Amino acid sequence: MLQWKKNRKILLAITGGISAYKTPEIVRAMIRSGWELEIVLTEEAERFVSPMVLSTLAGKRIWKQADYLSDESGWRIPHIALAEWPDAVMVIPASAESISRAARGEAGTLIGGILLATRAPVLFFPAMNVNMYEHPATIQNIKTLSSLGYHLIEPHTGYLACGYEGKGRLPETDAVIHEVWRTLCPDRDLEGKRVLVTAGPTWEFLDPVRFLSNPSSGKMGYQMARTAWYRKGSVTLVHGPVENRCTHGIVTVPVVSALEMYHEVIRRTEENDLIVKAAAVGDFRSSEIAPQKIKRTEDNVLNLSLVQNPDIALEVGKKKREDQILVGFAAESRDLVENARKKLARKNMNYIILNDISAGEGSGFQSDDNKVTVISRTGDMVSLSGTKEEVAYRIWDIILSPKERPGIFE
Ligand code: PMT
Repeated sequence: MLQWKKNRKILLAITGGISAYKTPEIVRAMIRSGWELEIVLTEEAERFVSPMVLSTLAGKRIWKQADYLSDESGWRIPHIALAEWPDAVMVIPASAESISRAARGEAGTLIGGILLATRAPVLFFPAMNVNMYEHPATIQNIKTLSSLGYHLIEPHTGYLACGYEGKGRLPETDAVIHEVWRTLCPDRDLEGKRVLVTAGPTWEFLDPVRFLSNPSSGKMGYQMARTAWYRKGSVTLVHGPVENRCTHGIVTVPVVSALEMYHEVIRRTEENDLIVKAAAVGDFRSSEIAPQKIKRTEDNVLNLSLVQNPDIALEVGKKKREDQILVGFAAESRDLVENARKKLARKNMNYIILNDISAGEGSGFQSDDNKVTVISRTGDMVSLSGTKEEVAYRIWDIILSPKERPGIFE
């Protein structure tokens, strides 16, 4: 786990909206994320979600409105103690009423008192009927909260519990967790930067049911994209066929073949500041795709005619400006460093990330972990290992501030 993700303390403030019924699931995900939790409910929230369920899942008592200004002895005053404690506060769901109260700085509730007293970052997750969300009064209140320094997370669009369709859905649980991580991330060095990442394999069809491909899962590329988003980048992920992952916050462009990936990357090359080519692109495709399924042959042989796909990284390298950074990956099984260096030079990359695919388990294709060597244009090398998330984060550390990290590419 990334160092800054360890031992985080999060206060969950639940207000009275129908999507409060989703908070037990969120509490489970928070515990899975290793967070220490305190949970506060408004009186209205108790009508939508059971305090007993929440305290059972969290394994501790929860805080209710009745605890506000309680004269029970032996306590530190709860709204101050709870305000000082967390690394971040989440208001989820943030009802129209709670948004309105917070915008006015009201302290008549336990949550209101905490919001005024805390110096931790506060994330509001508005969720409500679409008309309530789009009402000028709510829009004004949301603007006020943003201007006060609160983080407002846009609700998703879709079917709403009240029977309407529109904007007002609580984001999925994984998206909620990622938003908190993004707020807690100590590095914001990609703020204002546009980042394009490619990930996954390509499928080069031979006939309607068969294709040439490779075992890339897209995990490494996904982590490059996710960690760039944590560091406040505007991220686009062009990916081949991979399993579904939470892409909240990231613009995704799904493609199938190398040719499709080529077109999608080239048309976005100019507008991006950093381009990371983690995809395992098929170098060859069939010269023609058979319209019907290819049958078995009498002589037990099938001759395929393959043509070379464009080299996307090479084309990006030719087009790129001096102020753009191109990072390639190299999956190598022999003469590792030599081959990687040749690719870096030929494709005009700034860095190449060498993946030793002969290293076995715990590295390379499909694994959750990786062992790589970052090689710069000047020939400097740094070896990294860990989960793909940790490796991706360290790659960004190196690329984004090489001079500030002693011993790395000075
Ligand atoms: O997806 P995972 O399961 O997590 O596995 C990660 C990975 C092993 C796929 C990844 O880390 C990796 O090494 N990706 C690059 C694999 C590869 O295709 O390397 P290459 O040596 O063939 O290509 C070198 C570079 O040129 C790469 O940046 C590649 O994206 C790019 N390329 C290659 C061919 C081509 N036609 N166009 C390209 O842009």
